[in-house]
Amino acid sequence: QIKACLFDLDGVLVDTAKYHFIAWRELAEQLGFVFTEQDNERLKGVSRAASLDILLEIGGLTFSEEDKMRFAEQKNNRYVEYISKMDSSEILPGALSFLQECREAGIKVALGSASKNAMAILNNTGLTPYFDAIIDGTHTSAAKPDPEVFLLGAQAVGIAPEHCVVFEDAEAGILAATRAGMRSIGIGSPETLSEADFVVPSLAQVSVSKLGEWFAAV
Ligand code: BG6
Ligand code: MG
Repeated sequence: QIKACLFDLDGVLVDTAKYHFIAWRELAEQLGFVFTEQDNERLKGVSRAASLDILLEIGGLTFSEEDKMRFAEQKNNRYVEYISKMDSSEILPGALSFLQECREAGIKVALGSASKNAMAILNNTGLTPYFDAIIDGTHTSAAKPDPEVFLLGAQAVGIAPEHCVVFEDAEAGILAATRAGMRSIGIGSPETLSEADFVVPSLAQVSVSKLGEWFAAV
């Protein structure tokens, strides 16, 4: 039986990928190379510092740690400008009703995000009250695919990993769920999320009764 749902934030509950993309693209432009939407796929689920390393690798550039810290900060300042204007209209289809349904069914709800901006996003979109526990990039030391973020989430809501299901749009996040000993639902396309137990286009295709069907033996 599924007793807890653990949600990734960016790309699962809210559409922030476009803001990450715009902010990284601006930095790339400034450094003199083109950063495409396809390149951006590689940054999904990846921490800020690791994202910058990938971006610089794409541009074929090397910088000192000091410069890199400055670039990461600059990108984040830009990103924070965008998310400060977010509201509930940017919650992805099906997310709100499924979160509500989980609460009503007594299923614990936790966030497991790599972002250090998660609290601002949850507050601006009005999602904060739906969570029993919030684990984000300010609580973790190891990035996905390390299972840390989800194990901390399960611990915070007091549910054993085998009764947890993770919702993720990034391959690294699905791997983290598997390594945590949890079930996983990929949100997106089956090609990129082949390791997930099930893949759906959005949370609009998920319900508590569906979880019962999919994980009947859990
Ligand atoms: C993840 C995003 O949720 O958070 C990544 O998918 C992002 O694209 C990472 O780099 C870190 O986010 P932040 O807000 O701390 O820069
Ligand atoms: Mg994500």
